[in-house]
Amino acid sequence: MYRTHNCGELRMSHVGEEVTLSGWVQISRDLGGLTFVDLRDRYGITQVVFNMDENAELCQQARKLGREFVVRIKGKVAERSNKNANRPTGNIEIEASNLEILNASKVPPFTIENETDGGDDLRMKYRYLDIRRKPVMENLMFRSQLAIATRKYLSEGGFIEVETPVLIKSTPEGARDFVVPSRMNQGQFYALPQSPQTFKQILMVGGMDKYFQIVKCFRDEDLRADRQPEFTQIDCEMAFVTRDEVLDTFEGLTKHVFKELLDVTLADFPKMSYDEALERYGSDKPDTRFGMEFVELTELAKGHDFPVFDNSEYIVAICAKGAADQYSNKDIKKLTEWMQRPQIGAKGLVNIKYQADGSVKSSVGKFYDDATLNSWKETLEAENGDLVLILCGEKEKTQKQMNELRLEMGKQLGLIDPMQFNPLWVVDFPLLEWDEESERFHAMHHPFTSPKKEDQERMLTGDHETMKALRADAYDLVINGVEIGGGSIRIHDRALQSRNFDLLGFSKEEAEDQFGFLMGAFEYGAPPHGGIAFGFDRLCAVLKGQNSIRDFIAFPKNNQGRDMMIDSPSYIDETQMSELALESTVSAES
Ligand code: AMO
Repeated sequence: MYRTHNCGELRMSHVGEEVTLSGWVQISRDLGGLTFVDLRDRYGITQVVFNMDENAELCQQARKLGREFVVRIKGKVAERSNKNANRPTGNIEIEASNLEILNASKVPPFTIENETDGGDDLRMKYRYLDIRRKPVMENLMFRSQLAIATRKYLSEGGFIEVETPVLIKSTPEGARDFVVPSRMNQGQFYALPQSPQTFKQILMVGGMDKYFQIVKCFRDEDLRADRQPEFTQIDCEMAFVTRDEVLDTFEGLTKHVFKELLDVTLADFPKMSYDEALERYGSDKPDTRFGMEFVELTELAKGHDFPVFDNSEYIVAICAKGAADQYSNKDIKKLTEWMQRPQIGAKGLVNIKYQADGSVKSSVGKFYDDATLNSWKETLEAENGDLVLILCGEKEKTQKQMNELRLEMGKQLGLIDPMQFNPLWVVDFPLLEWDEESERFHAMHHPFTSPKKEDQERMLTGDHETMKALRADAYDLVINGVEIGGGSIRIHDRALQSRNFDLLGFSKEEAEDQFGFLMGAFEYGAPPHGGIAFGFDRLCAVLKGQNSIRDFIAFPKNNQGRDMMIDSPSYIDETQMSELALESTVSAES
């Protein structure tokens, strides 16, 4: 028997018992007459003591144990004289009578501690060692519990889990596809699903009524802290539902998992239109844990012979409460440079300091006298002591820049509590986005999203400008500024779907070739339907108050999309290439 107990289990009630434990050597400390070994497994750490006076040979053996050796230890549970209140097993120790090395270990390349000295790529390369660390192990266990709670909630709500294929044809979700060459159909490729979107709609036509799947999706896009090339969705679809029924169901799921996993009771989620979100926060995924909402100054600030403002389409401010004193001119300069980095691209940053003593200082004081600046206070909801930051320019661009500034100021001023949760439904997205460069419309969500009922007629008959104003029955769940999920009511009518493909620039043939199966299905009694998909990795991270989804994925890819452990992607050999009728343009040698 390898073990009678695990390393997190023994307590004072076990004192006197003979036990066997197996695990990894966390650390071995030699204190002359006594050698202490901390033995670790998934469940915890137990101290084992070897006594020189009682068994010299065993003690010598214990002294030779290296970090991460795998051992089996037998001994008696004893009360510790020097108790460790920080450890659940801290009141006891094992007086060892037997030690067996089950496997030796090389010295690990980084410490297996909560706070490790290993850099990201090193930890990914030796992911098996990283997983031994408590925070990583706990994140993976948390993920498992979240999946179980989700499955339980949805299956109790009548949802059926259906697996959809992984080797499919391209689904247009806005990213590039990963493709897989077909050996049996040379020159042809499967695509890995960016999501099971069309399949879940087909399941509705098939009468499944309520579908869900915790499913891997693949998108070849630039990586960020909250984006991986393969990630997991809680993917759902429902037939005969209105938008609000979908929102209620998934608000219910969200509340359930917060309660189950964190014992947090969430209040009902507010709904905000896309337009309102942009006006108030400059983002369709606003972090509503703090204020500093946008105040438009376009009307007030124009007409004072300050050409920069006079020539701007849009002027917007945020008011940082009590921050006038905290920001020296040097700090403001730093902030301005931060805003001028190419990633954000602001031209400049105007500030007004309403000083605590009632005086006003401003970078545009030359153009605006104190009386004018003071007259803006009411609109800005500013008081003495506040710092006001202003950006101007083309509206959409400026809103994006101000969103970045607001988030940065929220961070700098310590206004964001990582363990506060502010969920929000963002609704009524535009259906189509006009892209100036390619001179065509893109689907804001995806091409299967239905316009709002009142816009359907206009979509079939309207002109170009009408199309820009169409609203979709689409919604996102945002928590703490992170887009957790997105979905929509779908088109279930062939004519409307054809029109949408038409608007998106698909020729009749292309639409038929790529989505003929779906439009065909719509001709056989497709029920009205809609759904949503949550980013499962993102939901894990947000629940744990963290930004990076990598820490919740057992084997994530790095920023270059590489798996550092298995060293993938990799070249394939000539035989494989020729079987697949592929010709290489780049080779391992070049
Ligand atoms: P969408 O494209 O909005 O919708 O994706 C749904 C959710 O998936 C998560 N997500 C990601 N998570 C990690 N890495 C990525 N690269 C990544 N891309 C997306 C986000 C996002 O909100 N088929 C539709 C859903 C529907 O309409 O029902 C879809 O996939 O949290």
